[in-house]
Amino acid sequence: MATNPPFQLFPSSQGSGLGLGFLDSPEPALPPPPPPVEVLSSEVSSSVDFEVDKVTIGEITLLKGRVSTKEVFGLPNSDLVPGVYEGGLKLWEGSIDLVKTLEKESQTGNLSLSGNRVLELGCGHALPGIYACLKGSDVVHFQDFNAEVLRCLTIPNLNANLSEKSSSVSVGETEVRFFAGDWSEVHQVLPLVNNDGETNKKGGYDVILMAETIYSISAQKSLYQLIKRCLAYPDGAVYMAAKKYYFGVGGGTRQFLSMIEKDGKMVYSMMNIKQGLHCSSSTMIL
Ligand SMILES: C[S@@+](CC[C@H](N)C(=O)[O-])C[C@H]1O[C@@H](n2cnc3c(N)ncnc32)[C@H](O)[C@@H]1O
Repeated sequence: MATNPPFQLFPSSQGSGLGLGFLDSPEPALPPPPPPVEVLSSEVSSSVDFEVDKVTIGEITLLKGRVSTKEVFGLPNSDLVPGVYEGGLKLWEGSIDLVKTLEKESQTGNLSLSGNRVLELGCGHALPGIYACLKGSDVVHFQDFNAEVLRCLTIPNLNANLSEKSSSVSVGETEVRFFAGDWSEVHQVLPLVNNDGETNKKGGYDVILMAETIYSISAQKSLYQLIKRCLAYPDGAVYMAAKKYYFGVGGGTRQFLSMIEKDGKMVYSMMNIKQGLHCSSSTMIL
């Protein structure tokens, strides 16, 4: 990119000690990732129990689905299993911080999601993408590593939130689509990418949202390449909530920002920093 689009970075941790500290060993060799696919909203699971809780984020109330990792993946209640299940069934604090920041940005007039094309990467519960739907984005595409997460959690959670708000907000005009796959391959199925691998000059997403996606050093490069393929040039922006350091795995904002700086194609700014007991986290815009 000749002109640097803004990549604002904002920290997001609450100091609850959830610094992915459960990952205390170097990243192991991973199994081959599941193939990239589009998951249709009609493929929503009807066999897995789905319950909802309310989440209050400042003045906003959203719904958060609850499903069992054991029921969906046959795994005990683990936060993630690298290369198999990447944590999408749990609601991570970064996504709440991201929604708060988006609301603040909207209120101050710095951000208007209305009419925009939005992509949420590593969505899980997808609260930031759901917020974009409620704010009238034209397009919201959701991506997760696991198709099961999209079928059993993301789609039911979006449906629950939209039907809850449909009496008070004009929803239903947004094009919502769902894509599963690894960041190194999912561009093959995403609609708004430039598959030449160059910065996207022909469209792309106006806004990319992501929370708690940069904990694995090995995945950061493919995530960044994907962002460059998908982000509209030159005015697109990425809003990202992440921790400075994810204990045990070594990923975090330091490595990610250093990669961006070395590449020299994007600029970033820090929007919010929360200091916690164990780590600090941030929201940024790329
Ligand atoms: C820690 S979870 C965060 C989920 C959600 N954003 C939140 O904050 O609640 C990480 C997310 O990134 C996705 N993810 C992690 N590694 C990935 C990879 N290599 N390729 C594609 N998606 C990945 C996972 O599927 C998951 O949705």
